[in-house]
Amino acid sequence: MSTASVDLAQNESVKTGDCDNDFDFSKLPDKPRNLNMERQRSFDERSLVEASPRYSPWAENGQRHVDNESVFSPSRRSSFNTPRSLYGFEPHPMFAEAWESLRKTMVYFRGRPVGTIAALDNSDEKLNYDQVFVRDFVPSALAFLMNGEPEIVKNFLLKTLRLQSWEKKIDRFQLGEGVMPASFKVLHDPVRNTETLMADFGESAIGRVAPVDSGFWWIILLRAYTKSTGDSSLAETPECQNGMRLILALCLSEGFDTFPTLLCADGCSMIDRRMGVYGYPIEIQALFFMALRCALVLLKQDAQGKDLIERITKRLHALSFHMRSYFWLDLKQLNDIYRYKTEEYSHTAVNKFNVIPDSLPEWVFDFMPTFGGYFLGNVGPSNMDFRWFCLGNCIAILSSLATPEQSMAIMDLIESRWEELVGDMPVKVCYPAIESHDWRIITGCDPKNTRWSYHNGGSWPVLLWLLTAACIKVGRPQIARRAIEVAELRLAKDGWPEYYDGKSGRYVGKQARKHQTWSIAGYLVAKMMLEDPSHLGMISLEEDRQMKPIVKRSSSWTF
Ligand code: GLC
Repeated sequence: MSTASVDLAQNESVKTGDCDNDFDFSKLPDKPRNLNMERQRSFDERSLVEASPRYSPWAENGQRHVDNESVFSPSRRSSFNTPRSLYGFEPHPMFAEAWESLRKTMVYFRGRPVGTIAALDNSDEKLNYDQVFVRDFVPSALAFLMNGEPEIVKNFLLKTLRLQSWEKKIDRFQLGEGVMPASFKVLHDPVRNTETLMADFGESAIGRVAPVDSGFWWIILLRAYTKSTGDSSLAETPECQNGMRLILALCLSEGFDTFPTLLCADGCSMIDRRMGVYGYPIEIQALFFMALRCALVLLKQDAQGKDLIERITKRLHALSFHMRSYFWLDLKQLNDIYRYKTEEYSHTAVNKFNVIPDSLPEWVFDFMPTFGGYFLGNVGPSNMDFRWFCLGNCIAILSSLATPEQSMAIMDLIESRWEELVGDMPVKVCYPAIESHDWRIITGCDPKNTRWSYHNGGSWPVLLWLLTAACIKVGRPQIARRAIEVAELRLAKDGWPEYYDGKSGRYVGKQARKHQTWSIAGYLVAKMMLEDPSHLGMISLEEDRQMKPIVKRSSSWTF
């Protein structure tokens, strides 16, 4: 155990039970240990995949095998408040404006930055946009890490970890110990001159939705922090190790499941309203996979960690097999499903989930390009959700849930369906929209989620960072560059809206907040990554070489 973690543990034992008390941040080292100040900045974007550290968590003997995972690419703090181009290009004027706006969103707790507010839009009813959302903070955190400002990220990780230990109840029902909040807020008492925190674990959220993604993002961010700073002492603290274990206990517990995917209720991720995204949604499965892989790197091989590492390893094998086999859709697979026989019994069944070909939506036949493919929105008994979801597919690429061929195919699809998925504002959160009778049944007549609006086929600028990261990972940064150019035409002029409406995203969203922080941070991260692709390492995991892809490759693919 490092000195820092001893201090932290002692410090904590005095304060247990006192939720408002904070970790003593000063006890944690600010300076990363073994900081390698040499940063690789010179390699070509196309060679990034080859140049990235090789990582292989699933060694045959059950031992973790980490090649260069500890090799990190520390960010250099810019001496400017707004980072300048390292290569001497003049950054787009929006870039400086975005940094200025991002800094205004910083939230402080007892004098320390702990996160960024969801939106700085004072023109409308606030609802909960004045809170720090865990998922929304991720692009902000990455921007700060890329700019060599890890403190706010460390504070955020520790603060949310403290919130995790709160007793969480909805009415009389106690939530799982490992649940991470959807969001939190700092409350100021001007009379007593004190500050306290208020967190929402779903008990205040519209629809009482469960933030399943928060815990996964937390683990992913902890790895990004560790990778970017080289400071492994934070992840090694007993508190962080325990926090991870609690999150993992929630999603690795044994039950009645017949699939390795994680069964979820509707509205449990970025799409936090009823949208037919329940069961086994790709958004959660991809984050689950990525969080498991990050946890493998971060968990200590001690008595408690060992058993967990074994369970994670097994689950990863099963999960990647399941996802790559059953969630993957390309022309060949679509044609196979179209010709499926039904009512097959026994292990010899081809149509394992008994999908009825008549349930195939019309649009998917036109949408599917000759070259390309994607991970389906959802797969369960007699259920295939053919919608395209951006976050799940990008995370599948970044986590290497997608094989290299599948990653390429996803990019091919994005290029072939540019008008539909990028159009006038990147990127569609899902495609296509659900309309009429389906909309009534599936959303419960949600007026915010009418067709081509908000979560129902709306365009979300925040997704630009995920698209950019995925493009760089597969060696096709020019696709991201094109998307960023599209965004730059309007995003700042329109006041950084939360989302856009319309088939091609030409209209500022009906109820979109302006100055939405993750729209700003997403743009910044996309720009910084394109300029310095070595940043990708903090949010991307290389393919495990020992894991043989089992994907059935379509004969129509030519790479
Ligand atoms: C909306 C979005 C959700 C986001 C929140 C704060 O509820 O659907 O994904 O976290 O706003 O921006």
